[in-house]
Amino acid sequence: MENQPENNIDLSYDRSGTGTTPLVLIHGFPLDLSIWDGVVPLLENDFDLIVPDLRGFGESSTVDTPYTMLDFANDIAGLLDFLGIEKAAFAGHSMGGYVALAFAKEYPERVSGLALVSSQAAADAPERKAGRYKTAKDVLEKGVEVVAEAMTPKLSANEKVQEFANLLMKAQSQAGVIGALKAMAERGDFMDILPQFEFPVVLIHGDADLLIPIDRAKEIKSALPAAQLIKLKKAGHMPMMEFPKETAEALKKLM
Ligand code: MLT
Repeated sequence: MENQPENNIDLSYDRSGTGTTPLVLIHGFPLDLSIWDGVVPLLENDFDLIVPDLRGFGESSTVDTPYTMLDFANDIAGLLDFLGIEKAAFAGHSMGGYVALAFAKEYPERVSGLALVSSQAAADAPERKAGRYKTAKDVLEKGVEVVAEAMTPKLSANEKVQEFANLLMKAQSQAGVIGALKAMAERGDFMDILPQFEFPVVLIHGDADLLIPIDRAKEIKSALPAAQLIKLKKAGHMPMMEFPKETAEALKKLM
């Protein structure tokens, strides 16, 4: 685990692998880079893996001012600059997918491929947006446990995955969780930009995802027919933990 200060954020990351294609694995909300632990060893022969903690999560620092998906993306752009990497493939899990989409919108020339894992491109409906602000208020008053308890049963039917994710969510900072909730609420719609993507897009989605239904991936596939949709049978919201082998195989399409 290394750290690099960028944009006033001390971003923590792991780097491993002997492959030539850089692949950035971006975790979802409210988790950290350890969700990728099961797939990293399966990808190390094929990629130069860069696995950051987003600002406010894991070992990364954050700031108090409101921030956006583009700020998360700029942190990663800063990390890649620091590492001397001009272009990379990206795999974003759920909220990590929103960050990857924000990166691809801002820096399309730096993207060699994009995988959205259990994610979506549409913005929040108004009631979902309002719900995020309500949750942010609850987290401020009662702590991150409220999010951990509400999300755990929806993440996976697998008890070990639930247990791991529950502890991980409870270990995240209040400021990071609130900052990300607000950034997700305010994120724009990325559906419009999909047809402009000139790099391969892979959609990896469980057919038992209770948080972001597989229909969201199908909508992306309709807007971008060249995208490959890989449906994982019986996978919930955490395919990289529930089905690491199948998830790693799907990610190899970004090589
Ligand atoms: C995630 O898993 O990153 C979040 O549940 C995504 C979201 O709330 O939209």
